[in-house]
Amino acid sequence: MRLDKYLADMSLGTRSEVKDLIRKGKITVNEKTVKDASYQVKDSDIVACEGQEVSYVEYEYYLLNKPQGYICALEDKRYPVIMELITSRRKDLVPVGRLDLDTEGVILITNDGQLNHFLLSPKNHVPKTYYAETDAPIPETAVAEFEKGMDLGDFRSAPAQLKILEERKAELTIHEGKFHQVKRMFEKVGCTVTFLKRLRFGPLDLQGLSTGEFRSLSKEEIEVLKKDQPSD
Ligand code: URA
Repeated sequence: MRLDKYLADMSLGTRSEVKDLIRKGKITVNEKTVKDASYQVKDSDIVACEGQEVSYVEYEYYLLNKPQGYICALEDKRYPVIMELITSRRKDLVPVGRLDLDTEGVILITNDGQLNHFLLSPKNHVPKTYYAETDAPIPETAVAEFEKGMDLGDFRSAPAQLKILEERKAELTIHEGKFHQVKRMFEKVGCTVTFLKRLRFGPLDLQGLSTGEFRSLSKEEIEVLKKDQPSD
């Protein structure tokens, strides 16, 4: 990979800003100044900027406990976006799926496009568990209705597992992720969702993360997520 791309990928600046750093002699490779932006960086090379090593990370994986009021997009004119809550080296991160503006909870963010695609594919049935509060008592019959699958107009939901916790509080596990799916399912049984939080996404949960906080996934967690992914 070219030296200027390496540095830009690691967020040392735009392509032209890093070219400037290179030209000014601020970049060393194996402790020797390199002034050629097209220098091909080898795996064994140690790249540094003003003496600080810049190691290369190809993929990054983060788990965010999304707060309400943030939108799952890269940029938006009206609302703050979840990307503002993450400090990372890579600038090509995207959320895996979406949560509504007023939904909180687990959202995975990565630049691993293949994994993103795999996790979102309806074929793979990644379970997502939500905690919901409603404006009206949740009917007992909803458990069977959700399990059977329901007609939501544009699609029929796959079997989903509902656990009623209190009259107006429940946990729901779905295995797909259509637009406003949880809210629409509750609406279908006569309840409007007044609070929604995603507790789990596949094997990932919110343990130890307060609202608005994020963390990197461990190697083991990444392996578990990729477990059933076909290899190239
Ligand atoms: N279902 C919804 O209705 N909203 C979300 O944010 C996620 C799932």
